[in-house]
Amino acid sequence: MQNWYDLPTYYDVSFSHEMSEELAFLKAVFNQYCNSKKTELLEPACGTGRLMTPLIRAGYDCTGFDLNEIALDYLRKRLKRNRLKANIFNGDMESFHVKPDTFDAAFCTVDTFRHLLTQNQAEQHLVRVAKALKKNGIYVLGLHLVPDTGLSNKVTCWTAKRGRLTVKSTMTMIKMDKKKRMETLKVVLKPQVINKKQSYTSVYQLRTYTLKQLMKLLDKISIFEIVNAYDEFYDISRPATINSKSEYVVLLLRKK
Ligand SMILES: C[S@@+](CC[C@H](N)C(=O)[O-])C[C@H]1O[C@@H](n2cnc3c(N)ncnc32)[C@H](O)[C@@H]1O
Repeated sequence: MQNWYDLPTYYDVSFSHEMSEELAFLKAVFNQYCNSKKTELLEPACGTGRLMTPLIRAGYDCTGFDLNEIALDYLRKRLKRNRLKANIFNGDMESFHVKPDTFDAAFCTVDTFRHLLTQNQAEQHLVRVAKALKKNGIYVLGLHLVPDTGLSNKVTCWTAKRGRLTVKSTMTMIKMDKKKRMETLKVVLKPQVINKKQSYTSVYQLRTYTLKQLMKLLDKISIFEIVNAYDEFYDISRPATINSKSEYVVLLLRKK
């Protein structure tokens, strides 16, 4: 069994699949909501810098941290190779330290927030992000909710290519414990390098949220207001109405 975050090259190719909408959306949000001369961004759990690298290239000042040293090493080498600069450090989403009131915006998409497995960890994270943001700073938070109607898809497969490397990915929901609010997922990565076929299986857990549970959490900490919500299409011109049937949601939160 592997931790797929320990396979940064394969993770990065796999998750960069169809990320142009996500990236365009983030840039549109920062352009619309941040008015500093030099926009300062924070990415909690930045991993390989899949999103951060093109954002630095686009002129944003970025700070990112992650718990996984292998992913951070990949990111540092990637930045060096591309002659890009960012502030990268090893940190935990629950307990990270950055200079307060510094960032115009922060972002955390693709369910990363759900790696925080307890209510207390999730609260601590949101409080710390709010502390890091300037007044009216924006937090873009993207995660899957558990809809009333049940998940539409328990298995997702996709294939991504970069250069000569093709990675086939399969993500399967193998267990959902709504009482313990825990989802168990299995990811199989199959990189296909010339003459070689490999397969890596990773099993991990994420905290589950219904819309009600997410709203209750935000109400409790009471430091963000919801400016807008979007769906998996990341279309800034089309805010989505989220309801108990919603699956992937992207919330635009503003520090009060
Ligand atoms: C789905 S990946 C997302 C990486 C990156 N943000 C992206 O969009 O590609 C989730 C990341 O969260 C990191 N992670 C999980 N729990 C964490 C924690 N408590 N603190 C910091 N990073 C964490 C993992 O190491 C992994 O890099």
